[in-house]
Amino acid sequence: MALFSSSTQVIPNEAKIPRHVAVIMDGNGRWARNRFLPRVAGHKRGVDTVREMIKHCAVLGVEYLTLFAFSSENWRRPQEEVSFLMGLFMESLKKEVIKLHKNNIRLIMIGDRSRFDSLLCKEIDDAELLTKDNTGLTLTIAANYGGRWDIIQAINNLQKSHPELCGNFSESHITPFLSMSYAPEPDLFIRTGGETRISNFLLWQLAYTELYFTETLWPDFDDKAFNLAIESYQKRERRFGRTSEQLKS
Ligand code: IPE
Ligand code: IPE
Ligand code: MG
Repeated sequence: MALFSSSTQVIPNEAKIPRHVAVIMDGNGRWARNRFLPRVAGHKRGVDTVREMIKHCAVLGVEYLTLFAFSSENWRRPQEEVSFLMGLFMESLKKEVIKLHKNNIRLIMIGDRSRFDSLLCKEIDDAELLTKDNTGLTLTIAANYGGRWDIIQAINNLQKSHPELCGNFSESHITPFLSMSYAPEPDLFIRTGGETRISNFLLWQLAYTELYFTETLWPDFDDKAFNLAIESYQKRERRFGRTSEQLKS
């Protein structure tokens, strides 16, 4: 598709591109404050970074991109900011979904939708339905998502489906009920904005993910900055409990 063919980016070592990248997009408010703008101007600008990041991931051959857009704790923010974020979410969905679809991107939302208004829920359902058979990048947006919520809903649903297993649950019983059961666990986690915490993101799924933290604020996180994260990932040795010697032999 034309949208993606114009990229002139140098692709870092194609052989070891992470299959799944999960991102906490942080620093919008500070980006705006640094420019004497209202915080919401940073959120608006952050949407442009999302668009560029999706394109770049598709070019690189990342299969799953998961973006933390709104945490279950973000309701604690001032009412005007929450409303603005909900509006921006709705507007971006409306504006971008056709483009995503044309580029063979599958869109999935994870998180607790019970606090969203019915119009937003409908927009999300329609977007998921339209793109569900696409075979390119899977873009997951985590909205009103919390890692603890995810684990609890998985266990509750497992118990409802298999009451006979109660008291004997194992990992392989729980994982099919987690929100991201359709995806492999993230290979690379990126948090922009300088904080070095997980903030209740994918707690279960990040158990063996390579973590990358950068001071760069989300609106400034461009293709070059993303490539640095990929390069850092490519230098890591993923041992999963084994020794380095075992991996080499
Ligand atoms: C991240 O940017 C976006 C959301 C949480 C929705 P912030 O709004 O947290 O930006 P900072 O951390 O205040 O700079
Ligand atoms: C985390 O960002 C959630 C999202 C990016 C959506 P916050 O900026 O809200 O995180 P904390 O609360 O400072 O850890
Ligand atoms: Mg923040």
